[in-house]
Amino acid sequence: MSIVKIENLRKSYYISDKGVPILWDLNLEIGEGEIVSVEGSSGVGKSTLLNILGAMDEFDSGLVEVCGVSLGDITNTEKEKFRANKISFIFQHHLLLPDFTALENVMIPLLISKMNVIKAKQEAIIMLQKVGLGERLDSFPSQLSGGESARVGVARALVSKKQLVLADEPTGNLDRENSKNLMALILELQRDLKFSMVLVTHDMELAAMANKRNKMLSGKLQPITANT
Ligand SMILES: Nc1ncnc2c1ncn2[C@@H]1O[C@H](COP(=O)(O)OP(=O)(O)OP(=O)(O)O)[C@@H](O)[C@H]1O
Ligand SMILES: [Mg+2]
Repeated sequence: MSIVKIENLRKSYYISDKGVPILWDLNLEIGEGEIVSVEGSSGVGKSTLLNILGAMDEFDSGLVEVCGVSLGDITNTEKEKFRANKISFIFQHHLLLPDFTALENVMIPLLISKMNVIKAKQEAIIMLQKVGLGERLDSFPSQLSGGESARVGVARALVSKKQLVLADEPTGNLDRENSKNLMALILELQRDLKFSMVLVTHDMELAAMANKRNKMLSGKLQPITANT
């Protein structure tokens, strides 16, 4: 079964009433447990595509089906429910809440989805242990290094065990070593939790970890094969 099916997706932004096409007849299919990269220059529309997949942005035409839900046909309330149940985002700037500890930051998505506090605490501790921060539960974001904060961000994104993870430059502001470690960690968690993932990155080395690689160009995705 496909987790993502996009057919002939078109999306333009309107700047002083003039439509600027960003995505143009874009097609994409992602199977269960697949990691698909989206590469390409700045401004080509990579984040726009992720926002559409996460029901955060509208589109003009085409079919966008994610986890069996056709995103063009649902109401805003249904979109909220879809986001809460099906999708996780990992961003470059993980934006931890500064007044809450690592543990509390990871518990928050579970509490929002109405899990009881004791269970949420247990799940969050397990996830922080998986990312190697079992000893730092009570640290505040300001007490964590960049690499550690990024790992809390990953734990927070993955703790609710969604089917599709949308990662936008997840290692973007880390140095080489931290970046490789974080990606290895995400892959390890992926093998464990078996989510599908769209991985937006400029980094060839990270992109090489995807099962399928794509380059975004002129509003479309082109498969990158070993020879291109
Ligand atoms: N809300 C908006 N209104 C108008 N134009 C927008 C809006 N959001 C994005 N754009 C434009 O759409 C294009 C695609 O933006 P997008 O953020 O998807 O690029 P990207 O591929 O993610 O780039 P980067 O690698 O720099 O993050 C850009 O030219 C951008 O200026
Ligand atoms: Mg972007």
